[in-house]
Amino acid sequence: MKRTLGTCYYPEHWPEEMWAEDARRMAEAGLTWVRIGEFAWSRLEPAPGDMQWDWLDRAMDTLGDAGLRIVLGTPSATPPRWMLDRHPDMLALDGQGRPRGFGSRRHYCFSHDGYRAEAARVARLMAERYGSHPQLGAWQTDNEYGCHDTVISYSAAARQAFRLWLSERYGDIAALNAAWGNVFWSMEYDHFDQIDLPNLTVTEPNPAHSLAFRRFSSDQVVRFNRALVEAIRQGSDAPISHNYMGRVTEFDHYQTGADLEIATWDSYPLGFLEDRVGADDAHQRAFARQGDPDFQAFHHDLYRSVGRGRWWVMEQQPGPVNWAPHNPAPLPGMVRLWSWEAFAHGAEAVCYFRWRQAPFAQEQMHAGLLRPDSVEAPGLAEARQVALELADAPEVQPVQAPVGLIFDYDAEWAWEVQPHGAGLRYFDLVFAHYRALRRAGLSVEILSPTTREFSGYRMLLAPGLMHLPEALKEALAAFEGVLLIGPRTAARDGEFNIPVPLPPDWPGLDVVVARVESLRPDMPVTLVGGGAVVGYLEELEGAVETVLVAENGQPVCVRQGGTVYMAGWGDDAALDRLVAMMCEAAGLPCLALPDGVRCRETGTERFWFNYAAEARACPAGPLPPAGVLREAL
Ligand code: GAL
Repeated sequence: MKRTLGTCYYPEHWPEEMWAEDARRMAEAGLTWVRIGEFAWSRLEPAPGDMQWDWLDRAMDTLGDAGLRIVLGTPSATPPRWMLDRHPDMLALDGQGRPRGFGSRRHYCFSHDGYRAEAARVARLMAERYGSHPQLGAWQTDNEYGCHDTVISYSAAARQAFRLWLSERYGDIAALNAAWGNVFWSMEYDHFDQIDLPNLTVTEPNPAHSLAFRRFSSDQVVRFNRALVEAIRQGSDAPISHNYMGRVTEFDHYQTGADLEIATWDSYPLGFLEDRVGADDAHQRAFARQGDPDFQAFHHDLYRSVGRGRWWVMEQQPGPVNWAPHNPAPLPGMVRLWSWEAFAHGAEAVCYFRWRQAPFAQEQMHAGLLRPDSVEAPGLAEARQVALELADAPEVQPVQAPVGLIFDYDAEWAWEVQPHGAGLRYFDLVFAHYRALRRAGLSVEILSPTTREFSGYRMLLAPGLMHLPEALKEALAAFEGVLLIGPRTAARDGEFNIPVPLPPDWPGLDVVVARVESLRPDMPVTLVGGGAVVGYLEELEGAVETVLVAENGQPVCVRQGGTVYMAGWGDDAALDRLVAMMCEAAGLPCLALPDGVRCRETGTERFWFNYAAEARACPAGPLPPAGVLREAL
């Protein structure tokens, strides 16, 4: 596979006289791809049905003439103002019932049939016009589903669609009442049209109701995306992608991914560090100009899985961004490091957002590869360096990593619906395990909960899966390597009820979770030999081998055969011990990498990265700050 670079460009933002020179400079910098179009609806269709293709025809040709290949975005993330006159009820409503108004982007409700039809119409027209353009390389549907918290909507359209979704799922209302336990607090319904969305209730709604609404909301995104894919397919057979985000978990990305050929994601390491990694101040300070050492890698691995092997970075931060609480400049070398790290995880392409910094509107303070005056910004030199290095680099040979980690969107929603303790989030639990694996120098595959084939893995981790379909449970129980489950594994059935026999009810593991408690952040339960449980702890019954025990003698981690059950939320030190124990049992090497140093293996190379602001050593040699080392295997 050839690795390539690209950028995101908005021809509609610049006088046409600039396009050819921009295109020439992109090609000269070693870029292959240019993504355009995803926000251009008001210029493509200034009034309903008045299609203005000429400018886009010329932009495609100008970029193509410079040798660039085009990713064409469909513009449904930014419906123009006239759309609201045509569909006044298309706006999403927030949990308080307030409309999310016009004047930025992503204001539509995924459940609005009229808007979905408009979005599909413009996608079909674009595909009919450009589907056979010689330089068209790929499509992008919409832009960042879920960005700005836009998956969940409490609109009338959502309520109507939810009722239909429920009636299709449960068939009759008695089945729904029974499944949800609506006898509790006299919440029983007589027919589906009485069921509202789970907002504006006096106290918390029934968790089964909330979880059903989260599943429904995810399905609406899948359905919307599918409508765009079907529309594009009427005029084009080029691959179709979508650009996902970091830590957006409101819809099941594996399910949208199943309808697409390529998964891409938008990587903003410095913005994410402060905005969504969830690390403490000392960590944020230490990595302020580099980003979290694991957050990008986690998403690279996640989207490789979502794309079934085919994935890109569609937007790579090239300098300071505008949207985090603080927006520092990257340390010199980090744009290069982030790019190489994506390739080490198997990216086909890395595209920088954006070509030139915009002097107007919301993102004036967001760096591009060029300054607003077209002079090179620092990121461009690093992109050029990567292009030169790629020209000399061997082709990537992908290889399956020895460790699998299951990430399940449904579990994220279940934990959110019933965290049991403030701040306990499934994403953080999975990410904490991922970080521990990376500190041990391991390469990881992130697996969807629909995976049934685990051959080739030595170790599998499936923390926090609150509900497991029977088939997944059977496949995991049949796994012959070392398996980690818990806490909260199989703690609920598919309808959010506590199952009897009590969890985990796991074949070959004679333990029962007898009681659970959540803990204040300032009352960690320390473990004999180091580390602690924080936030959440289960009491186990059963006589199995104990591998981690609390100072008061309570078993925290137990093992029987190859199955390990973790009965609490381990801190970093506890998870390091857990991973070391599992590596030993699985016969895998376990390193203790210096702070900020990470490694990843492909079939042919081992990459070392230094996220620290100081020089570090790694087994392959010295690593300066932002250093990257490649070793042939
Ligand atoms: C992304 C988005 C882009 C741009 C960028 C700024 O989330 O897709 O359109 O807004 O952020 O960092």
